[in-house]
Amino acid sequence: MNQKAFEKIELPNVKNIIVIASGKGGVGKSTVAANLAVSLARQGHKTALVDADLYGPSIPMMFGVQNERPSGETKDGKEVICPVEKYGVKLISIGFFVSSGQSLIWRGPMASNGITQLFRDTEWGEIDFMIVDFPPGTGDIQLTTVQKLNLTGAIIVTTPQEVALSDARKAAAMFANIDLNVPILGIIENMAWFTPVNHPDEKYYIFGKGGGEKLAQEFRVRFLGQIPLVMEIGEVSDKGTTIYNQSNKTIIDSFEAISHVINEVISVKI
Ligand SMILES: Nc1ncnc2c1ncn2[C@@H]1O[C@H](COP(=O)(O)OP(=O)(O)O)[C@@H](O)[C@H]1O
Ligand SMILES: [Mg+2]
Repeated sequence: MNQKAFEKIELPNVKNIIVIASGKGGVGKSTVAANLAVSLARQGHKTALVDADLYGPSIPMMFGVQNERPSGETKDGKEVICPVEKYGVKLISIGFFVSSGQSLIWRGPMASNGITQLFRDTEWGEIDFMIVDFPPGTGDIQLTTVQKLNLTGAIIVTTPQEVALSDARKAAAMFANIDLNVPILGIIENMAWFTPVNHPDEKYYIFGKGGGEKLAQEFRVRFLGQIPLVMEIGEVSDKGTTIYNQSNKTIIDSFEAISHVINEVISVKI
């Protein structure tokens, strides 16, 4: 590999970069990344969200900005991208630049270059938390990001069932790898239980119970919290709005509790 492949991307005005990863697709990584970003922004942090899922960018739709395009400007003789801003979060996604389906063909060096450009050529300004929504698994994009950026750490999202946990274990093992050595800030268990809309006090553990916590113990990392499987979460994502625009308080509490724990974990680390 040539020298350039290992060149670090310096983002001196970004205090914390946290990647949201999972072993499997569909466990709610993007949902967690988006709502955590909104929650952190509402707590007064300057927040950015990078949609690094070049193969299936979903952040523009979740924020209802799929028809917007980031503007460009020239700064110090260089072309830079100005992020789209929504709900107090600065957003960048490959979805803003390619039509849906087109990004699916990106592999290897092309994917690595694409992701490098998103980070490097965007005019971020001062950022407290940059949340990065990864594609599932441990491919080129994840490796490039981990090698080129100085990450604060990774958060692993899993659902409670065994098949998701075994894939999450592989993702966690990648970060814990001695060469990459990215701190795992903790595990979030999504779809932890199901609560029907008309029976808000009932909990059904349809995918099993305790899996996320078990994984956290196994890797000796913090269990950051659980998010229930509730219809409203999917609904707000589809509408391009946020958890703050619906009436289920449990969801808001779950995300706010997790963002507080993240703050705590990070300030302890520093
Ligand atoms: N806690 C939840 N409750 C209900 N639906 C959810 C929840 N988390 C995610 N979803 C839905 O599940 C689907 C997959 O979530 P997504 O965040 O796109 O997963 P990933 O990014 O891991 O592939 C989406 O339709 C999303 O709205
Ligand atoms: Mg996703």
